[in-house]
Amino acid sequence: MRPYFLAASLVTSAVLLVPASAQILPFFTKPSTARQPSLEQRPIMNANTPSPQTPPSPAQAAVILSDVIGNSRQTNIFAGFTRDISSVATRLDASLLNTTVLAPANTAISALPRKPWEDPKDYAEMGAAAYEGLSGSDRAGSNLRRFVEAHMVPVSPWGEGEKVKTLAGTEVWWESRGGKTVVLPGEVEVERVVSRVANGEVWMLKGALNYAA
Ligand SMILES: *[C@@H]1O[C@H](CO)[C@@H](O)[C@H](O)[C@H]1NC(C)=O
Repeated sequence: MRPYFLAASLVTSAVLLVPASAQILPFFTKPSTARQPSLEQRPIMNANTPSPQTPPSPAQAAVILSDVIGNSRQTNIFAGFTRDISSVATRLDASLLNTTVLAPANTAISALPRKPWEDPKDYAEMGAAAYEGLSGSDRAGSNLRRFVEAHMVPVSPWGEGEKVKTLAGTEVWWESRGGKTVVLPGEVEVERVVSRVANGEVWMLKGALNYAA
């Protein structure tokens, strides 16, 4: 009864355990520039400490959301979901499109009353087999996409009280309340900001948003 893509997302999560430093720099090999022969093999961390001979362009130096989304073990289930939804993965990889990613912690996703790709309406219409077969897999995929898009705020920096529609079309904003940061209207607490990079931020949430029971 588990849809196929779930297996794929578990594989993705396993891949996420590879350290970020294993990422490969884009090629910018120029045979004529003999000063830095093995530049393309430098680990990405070194790209942030430019040497005087070869100042990297901003595009080469910038770390973006797609680089860091899987870095926190506490949110790697949600990170795996973002990689399975190609429109979202593409956005996180776009250096000129800023996003605030509201990533529910693994504990929050595990505590949900049902899986993010399950919709009670599907069970009501189709029974226990709602997510079996190819069409079931498609159905689960679009439910998961809606879940992930409801956690993507297409602005960063995102100011307090600024009402923004998520990629799923739901309006959200945030406020500080008694020393805590909460995302409204669901009043879901922000645990902390996990990453702050060139095209946005990853915030870890203590719960999931827009999750109609
Ligand atoms: C995108 O985020 C960066 C880093 O915070 C910021 O400098 C830049 O102004 C943002 N761009 C837009 C269009 O908000």
